[in-house]
Amino acid sequence: MKTIVTDSVKETAKIIKKGGIAAFPTETVYGLGANVYDEKAISKIFKAKGRPGDNPLIVHIAHKKHLEILAREIPEYARKIIRQFFPGPIALILKKNEIVPDVVTAGLDTIAIRMPSSKIALDLIKECGFPVAAPSSNLSGSPSPTSFVHVLQDFKGKIPCILIGPKAKFGLESTVVDCTGRDPVILRPGVVTLEQLKKINKNIKYQSRTLKIISPGQKYRHYSPKAKVRFVKRETSNLKRGTAYIGLNKKFAKGFEHVNICSSVEEYAKHLFSFFRECDQIGIKTIYCDKVSEKGVGLAIMNRLMKAIG
Ligand code: TXA
Ligand code: MG
Repeated sequence: MKTIVTDSVKETAKIIKKGGIAAFPTETVYGLGANVYDEKAISKIFKAKGRPGDNPLIVHIAHKKHLEILAREIPEYARKIIRQFFPGPIALILKKNEIVPDVVTAGLDTIAIRMPSSKIALDLIKECGFPVAAPSSNLSGSPSPTSFVHVLQDFKGKIPCILIGPKAKFGLESTVVDCTGRDPVILRPGVVTLEQLKKINKNIKYQSRTLKIISPGQKYRHYSPKAKVRFVKRETSNLKRGTAYIGLNKKFAKGFEHVNICSSVEEYAKHLFSFFRECDQIGIKTIYCDKVSEKGVGLAIMNRLMKAIG
């Protein structure tokens, strides 16, 4: 298959409107989108990614009024989250309406909805005229793409279109919040933090690993480079062939073949997945990562690292 690589929103929307799929940039990671109402198109996403059919997609909207079309029973705390954080790097799980095909939600009676803040993503959804269902645009199991180059690595010749845009501003997938219960529950931490959401509802919880899995995506091994991922332990200065380091601590970085010293947790989050891919490209065998405290964005970084370590 020929993959069109374009910076034209119009051209990309045309392909999606005709029942095709296309990768596009967002502020979190690149997505692989299709018309939410077109079951055939949705199944192309699962096929291209090699994604298990029981892992539901996030539906992207460009107008808040589309919330009411896709979802029902939106609790007051969810409305507050929407007022404060839409558009932005957060997805809400709500009870779904009939109109949403089962393939999108993997048969669940709930739907994940997100309104991206990325201008090019919003322009694309507006141009399509319907909500766009989109998982991250990576092969199932590999790190999420934060640049169109990563999308090309995974999908050149395998999907009809890639919309080129800037590198992802945040570099980690959205915060996923279950809004179907009495109080909100964070299913996947992201750059909208637990602390920020606590200000809206103080009873909000982060679903720890020991709790029952209600977000299907959480049970799959994710975000993994080919290299092994480990936490860095102590500083040594021997040359460690085939090893790489990413983190905040300069002292730990000595002796590694490839390093990325980040000046903040935000930068760590932004660079993590692209560093994973970079390491695979140059044949790194083990990537050592700094542990960070599970505060703010640190919670999301630790969640992704634990998954990559497996
Ligand atoms: O930042 C993002 O959210 C990116 C960009 C493209 O928007 N998308 C993304 O999609 O990360 P994906 O498919 O890689 O992750 C979606 C997560 C999965 O863990 C999935 O299980 C969960 O959201 N999810 C989707 N619908 C759900 C539902 N109805 N109930 C529980 N979890 C759901
Ligand atoms: Mg994903």
